[in-house]
Amino acid sequence: MMKGLKKSATTLLRSSKSGGINFKAASLISELKFVPNQLLMRNNFSTSLIQQHGDHHHDHHHHDLMEDELLPTPKKTIINIKEPPIPTEVDLGAMGEQVATASSANSDPKAAERKMKRARTVNYLQKPLEQRILVLEKYFGVKPELGKPVELTKEQIVNVLNIEDHEEQRALFDYANSITESIYGSKVYFRGIIEFSNVCQKDCNYCGIRKHMQVPRYTMPKEEIIEQAIWAYENHFGSIMLQSGELNTEGRISMLVDVIREIKKRTGGGGPGEWNKGLGIALGVGELSRESYQRLYDAGAHRYLLRIETSNPELYSKLHPNDENHVWEERKKCLETLMDIGYQTGTGVMIMIPNQTVQDLADDLLFFRKIGADMIGMGPYIVQEGTPIGKIWMEQYGHMNEAEKKEYNRVLFRLALKMTALARILIPEANISATTALQAINPAGREIALSSGANMVMPIITPTKYRVNYQLYQGKPCIDDTKEECKRCLTDRVKWSNKQLILDEWGDPISYFNKRNMKVPNKE
Ligand code: 5AD
Repeated sequence: MMKGLKKSATTLLRSSKSGGINFKAASLISELKFVPNQLLMRNNFSTSLIQQHGDHHHDHHHHDLMEDELLPTPKKTIINIKEPPIPTEVDLGAMGEQVATASSANSDPKAAERKMKRARTVNYLQKPLEQRILVLEKYFGVKPELGKPVELTKEQIVNVLNIEDHEEQRALFDYANSITESIYGSKVYFRGIIEFSNVCQKDCNYCGIRKHMQVPRYTMPKEEIIEQAIWAYENHFGSIMLQSGELNTEGRISMLVDVIREIKKRTGGGGPGEWNKGLGIALGVGELSRESYQRLYDAGAHRYLLRIETSNPELYSKLHPNDENHVWEERKKCLETLMDIGYQTGTGVMIMIPNQTVQDLADDLLFFRKIGADMIGMGPYIVQEGTPIGKIWMEQYGHMNEAEKKEYNRVLFRLALKMTALARILIPEANISATTALQAINPAGREIALSSGANMVMPIITPTKYRVNYQLYQGKPCIDDTKEECKRCLTDRVKWSNKQLILDEWGDPISYFNKRNMKVPNKE
């Protein structure tokens, strides 16, 4: 059993020199977890990386949650911690059939074991949060304090990524959340994504809209892009993000310049340096020349997202064709150029890409810090059949049965959450996104991330008719949804994570201003 998974664990561990703590997928199976009531749903969740059903926003209160998922404790402030109620026997019933059975069927050894684990969790939850996080001392080498970040070496980061114990994981997520709250309070911001074109000159080996993928190509007309942006503005989104495949033609750049100018004009915005006027505009349109970046900045875009995908140049070269169009050093240079121009600059990676190791992931986090990322967006790698990396993934994991797929997703989700939490600990002032891909592997993925270090969420506001052709990976959520549905859905998710959705504000990363000795806007 779990042949594929063992392989992944080994791959992930291949270059781990730390020893000691192992990333052992199978041992994560069948642990019964406490789930906060407001997130409590049925426990028959079943998903698959190969056959994704996506998430049905219409069915929120019934959407499923992995029954053994370890949710962080949602809370309003660190001082006044609002704990979810400790489950009683009665609450147990609500946790689903499996649990109900566990509490009655004493003869079943598995049920007894689950009951014991649950008792342990309840016990754990009875301790005050500041005591609970002390279990992390053995990984940090110092006593963690709520809201206070710690310094970690690469080896320590690797050890944290390898944490298997559920209570320790939970302590990690809660600790990360306390840091988020000490900096941003419980504020969460929206960025509406407009995926305005899937035309792409790149051929990234993992991506569903790479040049060599057979998909109908589209570019939204200017007016339609602007219309989505105005909708976002009228619906009180502070910011949008214009995202697309990569195209560095003059036509594309000048089109974008026009669109940005028009959006700024119609939302009462000013130029660069005029903070918080009009709709905030972020771009995610790939590697461009310095001149193009500058033109787009001058037109009024003030944020830019460019994932490095992996901080390991060697792994990067395996994930991309070996040509002058896909050079890791060039991508890194782009990030530096963007920062130099004055963009608030974001980067990120994919998690659990074939042949990636835990060491790589630790390096990714250190890379974000070293380069001075203001924004971080990370998500699990998800297979896209018909791509070269998808093929490798299928060879390794294609044979998994339903239970194994579910287990794979569970391990992947935990790892992604740990990366989010560690990003918050190591780069405390960054804006960290609860990404869409997290929701692809766990229906509650985004709200859970919002309680584990993330403070940002990006509703997709691309017109529905285009979405099917913007599938970067299989099973991308929200494919059939409208922008209104995505707005409502994510408003609910923010609420469930016990956070406060902030409208009509840009929600800039504090790091950006601190680095430049500038006054943080909206802060008295
Ligand atoms: N799985 C997960 N994320 C992907 N991306 C592209 N393809 C995949 C995939 N198969 C991510 C990349 C890119 C972002 C826009 O989408 O990280 O930067």
